[in-house]
Amino acid sequence: MKRILVTGGAGFIGANFVRYLLEHSSAQVVVLDALTYAGNRESLNGLPEDRVELCIGSITDASLVDRLVSDSDAVVHFAAESHNDNSLHDPAPFLETNILGTYMLLEAVRLHNVRFHHISTDEVYGDLELDDPARFTETTPYNPSSPYSSTKAASDLLVRAWVRSFGVRATLSNCSNNYGPYQHVEKFIPRQITNILNGEKPKLYGSGNNVRDWIHVDDHSSAVWRILQHGQMGRTYLIGANGEENNRVVLETILELMGKNANDYEKVPDRPGHDLRYAIDASPLRVELGWVPQHEDLAQGLSTTIQWYTENRAWWEPLKQQTEARYESQERDRKLEAVKTVGTA
Ligand code: NAD
Ligand code: DAU
Repeated sequence: MKRILVTGGAGFIGANFVRYLLEHSSAQVVVLDALTYAGNRESLNGLPEDRVELCIGSITDASLVDRLVSDSDAVVHFAAESHNDNSLHDPAPFLETNILGTYMLLEAVRLHNVRFHHISTDEVYGDLELDDPARFTETTPYNPSSPYSSTKAASDLLVRAWVRSFGVRATLSNCSNNYGPYQHVEKFIPRQITNILNGEKPKLYGSGNNVRDWIHVDDHSSAVWRILQHGQMGRTYLIGANGEENNRVVLETILELMGKNANDYEKVPDRPGHDLRYAIDASPLRVELGWVPQHEDLAQGLSTTIQWYTENRAWWEPLKQQTEARYESQERDRKLEAVKTVGTA
């Protein structure tokens, strides 16, 4: 794989994966990214220009996609609208990018017989009860809850169909919640760290009992690289690193690591349809492909992540105000919706 096309490579996980590729391979990397509100060219700062090229454009642009795919040995597809809260307020871009964009890429890799790896999420499986001993496996039935996760589920099914019907050489991976550097400040962990750095109170949705299965983004990258090299065509691999923790404990840990009182946060109204618990069984990836995560200590990973946001204010400060303004307007809309519902009942 001499030339790898990375879609969404200016986003959180994509940019970390590009950095991983530069360190662990000799590939030339082409990033295709629309630089939406979530994409940031500064996440690629400092990378060697003779190995990384940024092409600004959309995965829904068929002729651009065709040209870039025809020049590549492999495509790793991260580009997506990725935030659940946004999908509850305006699902349209999620359908456009996550479903139509994936279709455009599939048609191009089919035409040019290019190896494809599709990045997806554990959220396609819905959620688990808190006391359920079960974890998601590659045979768990799809049961997505939000507009975001339903569009990711749709894109996964397209990939599976293109493998079966057209012989496209593709693998899929469904990963749990990532954290680490370059994550947009709309997401839980960086939102709370940057609130604290700005002297604002962190915001916890509902009871805080919801459980996420946290994985450091570098472990996600190493798993994807392993699947790209050694994965079985048509297979789905679940990626997770035994990082189950509830939101309240994660928040209290962040507060303590930042020298604050563990109770110094604000409870805010819950996310509608909020998934209760995600948990991944990644044993096939460990046993069959020999993948071993390197960052399983969540408190240690949170500590280095806090350090990164503390030292990289210039990266996140320009995003912070508009993100919090978007949260405020989403909350206003939700309140108006609730008043309307009471009015019509
Ligand atoms: P992100 O929102 O940080 O980045 C998404 C990137 O895609 C941005 O750079 C954005 O500009 C780009 N993009 C959006 N629409 C595009 C379009 N039409 N054409 C080209 N580029 C476009 O997202 P992320 O958290 O890095 O997630 C990356 C992928 O990983 C997504 O597919 C997501 O579903 C999946 N995933 C994320 C997590 C997580 O915890 N963040 C976990 C599992 C899977
Ligand atoms: O599970 C994988 C998924 O993880 C990915 O597919 C998504 O792209 C990614 O955004 C993430 O989805 P979540 O909805 O789980 O992540 P988020 O960071 O938005 O929220 C994590 C948890 O924290 C969730 O239970 C909601 C809660 N939360 C979130 C925010 C932003 C809060 O309590 N307060 C907040 O301010």
